[in-house]
Formats: sequence, C-alpha cells, structure tokens
Amino acid sequence: MVTWEQLEGACRSCKKCPLWTTRTNVVTGVGNREADVLFVGEGPGEQEDLRGEPFVGPAGQLLDKMLAAIGLDRRQVYIANVVKCRPPHNRDPLPEEQAACIRYLRAQTRLIRPKIIVCLGRIAAQAIIRPDFKITRERGIWEERKGFWLMATYHPSALLRDPSKKRDAWEDLKSLRRKMEELE
Ligand code: URA
Ligand code: SF4
Repeated sequence: MVTWEQLEGACRSCKKCPLWTTRTNVVTGVGNREADVLFVGEGPGEQEDLRGEPFVGPAGQLLDKMLAAIGLDRRQVYIANVVKCRPPHNRDPLPEEQAACIRYLRAQTRLIRPKIIVCLGRIAAQAIIRPDFKITRERGIWEERKGFWLMATYHPSALLRDPSKKRDAWEDLKSLRRKMEELE
C-alpha cells in the first residue's frame, strides 16, 4: 500500500474483519491528499455507508460547520475513520475490527504526512493517542509524536446529543487554528 491507488484498491476488496459482510460501500476517506490536518472519526454511519464518503450525515453537517467556523472546508483537510466499513446499527467498532483496519489509516497517514491529526471522539483518541485516553479530561491537549501534533476533541455526534459540550469543542477548534498558524 505505497500508493493511493494500492490503498484504495486494498480497502475496496478488504475482507480482513467481519464488517465487510454488512457494508454497502467501503468509506476510505476524502479531502486533500496533501492536507496539513487529518481528522479521524470512528467509522461510517448509515449515510456514509450508502454514499461511500465520511461524515456526510448529521454529524458530518455539524463537522462542516465546525470547520467553517475556523475558516476551513472539507476539501482543504483530509477526513478518515478508524474503521472503513460501517458497524451494524452504528455500534462502536470492536477492538479486533479496529486492529484489522488501522493499517489503512496508518498508510493514509504516511501518504498524506499531515502536520496535525485531530481525533474526533473517544474511539479515535484511544486508537491513535492512548488506549486509556479520557476524552472529557484530555481533549484539547496537544502532544507531539513522531513529527505529528496530536489532539482530540468531542465527536460531532456527542455535540448533537449534548450541546453543552459545544463550548469546549469551540475552544479546541480555536486551539487547532492557532496550532496551524504556529506550524505554517
Ligand atoms: N461518524 C464517524 O465517526 N465517522 C463518519 O464518517 C460519520 C459519522
Ligand atoms: Fe477491512 Fe476495515 Fe472493512 Fe474490516 S472495516 S473489512 S478491516 S476495510
């Protein structure tokens, strides 16, 4: 998987975990392949599965608004998920499903070489930053690792369920904007 074509081909035909049996489309990722910022969600939902693109349902509409609030749109950044196939009924992806799929996210990260990786929600933060990551306590905190700046914020679905979290999410977005300016 050293080229985008190889990566996308491998994802399209992937049967490395049972999620392939219930998918409509593999949702590999979308955006600028030379982006400075990579956003990572947990896995496709219903709309994403039907359309083959990440974050196009209600959470995606909120993500687009969050990006717009700091002057970004989805064509400038890259958006992907920890697992590329939809977990049935939007359940959390199982540890073994994540373990099977994370190779594709790693390959994407090597190809994009972003300066910043923003984890959207606990699942992504635990897969990328640390298995015991606590989203409420550790969101908004930057950590540099292997040349990437990592940070996690609330998943947009969490903000839809609990709008009181939006204030903290806004602080995280402003912090992202500052980090981007700092790294320019
Ligand atoms: N939630 C996610 O984590 N990813 C998507 O692509 C859509 C909703
Ligand atoms: Fe393959 Fe990932 Fe889909 Fe599982 S979720 S079948 S590992 S692409």
